[in-house]
Amino acid sequence: MTERIRLLVAAPFAEAQPVIAAFRPQNALGIDVATICQHGPSVQADALEHGADVVLLSPLLPGYDGEVISRLARNPERPIAVIGLVPPSGDWGLTMGRAGAQGYVETPLDAARAQQIAGLIPRAIKEAYAGRASGAYIPQLDPRVAAAITAQGYQRQTVAVWSPKGGVGKTTVAVNLAVLLGVVANRPTLIVDGNMVGGHVAHFLNLRPQRTLHHLATLFQAEFGDREPDAAQLGPSTLREHTTHFGGNLDALAGILRQEQASEAALRGRQGARFVKALLETAGRMYEFVVIDLGSSFNNVIHRGVLLYSHLVLTVADTDRTTLSDVRNSIQAMVTAFQEEGVDLDRFQILLNRFDPGAGFSRGEIARYVGLTEYGCIDREVNGAMIRAVNTGYPFVLETFASRERKRDPILRSYVAVGTTIFPPLATIYDNGRLPRRARTGARGGRRRGMVSGPSRGLGQLLGRQP
Ligand SMILES: Nc1ncnc2c1ncn2[C@@H]1O[C@H](COP(=O)(O)OP(=O)(O)O)[C@@H](O)[C@H]1O
Ligand SMILES: [Mg+2]
Repeated sequence: MTERIRLLVAAPFAEAQPVIAAFRPQNALGIDVATICQHGPSVQADALEHGADVVLLSPLLPGYDGEVISRLARNPERPIAVIGLVPPSGDWGLTMGRAGAQGYVETPLDAARAQQIAGLIPRAIKEAYAGRASGAYIPQLDPRVAAAITAQGYQRQTVAVWSPKGGVGKTTVAVNLAVLLGVVANRPTLIVDGNMVGGHVAHFLNLRPQRTLHHLATLFQAEFGDREPDAAQLGPSTLREHTTHFGGNLDALAGILRQEQASEAALRGRQGARFVKALLETAGRMYEFVVIDLGSSFNNVIHRGVLLYSHLVLTVADTDRTTLSDVRNSIQAMVTAFQEEGVDLDRFQILLNRFDPGAGFSRGEIARYVGLTEYGCIDREVNGAMIRAVNTGYPFVLETFASRERKRDPILRSYVAVGTTIFPPLATIYDNGRLPRRARTGARGGRRRGMVSGPSRGLGQLLGRQP
């Protein structure tokens, strides 16, 4: 049996009736009318209750509010597409399109227009999912919660994510943290791929950047290559032109594309040091949070500048003995190497990632051994969600935040705890974001329909991407 699309018809009865007539049960179009809704304020609840994939929405519905279109798009469990069913006069089609509707048809509905709806629906669903996958998705925030948030104070800061060891989860941590701050909390945030051995931030966020940190450094060198360090400043618009928008309030400065770029004059020696300082200064003024993903060597000038001038250095370690001894030794070696500038170790904190309680070390033991305070602890993810997030380019915390696992997932919870230490209102956002109504399993709760069952399942197919 093939899967059928469920359509909620939200329109006054006179307009809804021809739709029902056009989409009779078992029709060959593969579209079933789930139910009719005749009351504006209950459109979203009805759509969830009846498992609708798409809503055919009339602006003539009593109590109509165009806001519902974006609320359906941002529905935590999965996006719900909207197609307008609009009167032929006026510019309702345009207005609803601006509010986020994926298309519209005009009334009165005849056979040809019913066919038009059938044609619009698959693309509408695909677009609704693509909107979320692009990172434009922002969890719903109650106005009351938003007000409470602005009342809480917090500190703008630059956070470096570093480890002397590769493969421990630096990029994973940097990306998910940046997404929590920039998309979930919606604060102006920049993630910088500062890994001079070749970073993967753009990959993790599914971005296709036009410009990178390498372009920016080259431009900076052309402008300030022979001037005194004090005169070297990076203009905000220059920085902005080199970033790529992810979604919400998050921008990314993509990293070098090839390792040999790191050995060019713009990113080396005194010039590289001036560049990284200017970059941190300007980024810190433009964004509330700057998260920098680093490579392992502290001797590289770019890594060195970030380690010296960030407010916080999250030192990532897993529960592997070799990582722990590498971290301990590198910290000691770094203190010696940075003697001239004087490194303040209070800014360095350990972030346990892929923590495995069965590995034989307790968290306390690790912190004592390494000689740093623990900032947070993220468990080992075992169901493949973490690697899937990398493969789909859709960050783990966003996917999980929008799912019914939101309150239960231990990894999301530990990420939120880390994010909350940086931006305290994040805890409120996590607690108050709305849970989907269909979270309980019932006749329809256990329903699994490949194409539209959730952002991860079948999404690759839907978006024409390899999962
Ligand atoms: N908490 C975790 N649980 C399971 N796998 C993880 C976790 N964090 C990261 N990973 C996986 O570990 C691998 C390396 O992560 P990555 O962030 O690329 O490390 P690094 O940037 O330090 O080289 C990736 O495949 C990632 O999906
Ligand atoms: Mg990395």
